[in-house]
Amino acid sequence: MKKIQIAPSVLAADMARLGEEMRRAEQSGADLLHLDVMDGVYVPNISFGFDIIKTIRRAASIPLDVHMMTVRPDKYIDRLAEVGANSVTVHEYTCEDTRAALEAIKRRGMNCALAIKPKESAELIEPYADILDMVLIMTVEPGFGGQKFMADMMPKIDRVREILAAAGSDADIEVDGGINGGNAPLCVEHGVNILVAGTYLFGADDMKSRCDSLRVG
Ligand code: DX5
Ligand code: ZN
Repeated sequence: MKKIQIAPSVLAADMARLGEEMRRAEQSGADLLHLDVMDGVYVPNISFGFDIIKTIRRAASIPLDVHMMTVRPDKYIDRLAEVGANSVTVHEYTCEDTRAALEAIKRRGMNCALAIKPKESAELIEPYADILDMVLIMTVEPGFGGQKFMADMMPKIDRVREILAAAGSDADIEVDGGINGGNAPLCVEHGVNILVAGTYLFGADDMKSRCDSLRVG
């Protein structure tokens, strides 16, 4: 089994103390930092862009896992590489050509991933299973932190695992939305190895014990 990785979602951090918050995450044992880029078009919320990613890159040394909730993220792959992204996740139907976008992400030395929204099916990843480094399964509707985890996404994770296995892929499986110490074990049981958590981690005084609680399940 793959090692469980914890990815605090920066959306829930105190933006007035961004550098300190990133160090707090790192010192709490975070493996990655999850960065939600939202454009107010693909999702009904606007978050942050390249300059903030660059600032985070300077403040932290762990990999940056960038989740693009925008239209045409394929236009910004070079920019994302330049500001220090280590992996880029896109949603289906947002790029001119999804496969070309995934290939471009890899050519720039980053890991590529596709996200599946709650109403979308696991089969969405099928045409790309050979190239994906990671699949992100949304356990809330994208757009906002602090929403309730959807446990009914678990069968979809099983199906994603089957599709990846059939393609001979051992891509990472990440869940995002409403993750906490109570539901992390269920996700891990279904084969998830990267857990994104925003509110649960940044909202706590003792982030380290929350990180530990996700890891041990
Ligand atoms: C939702 C974002 C998530 C969000 C998770 O659109 O993709 O990454 O920040 O936050 P919590 O853990 O608070 O649900
Ligand atoms: Zn996200």
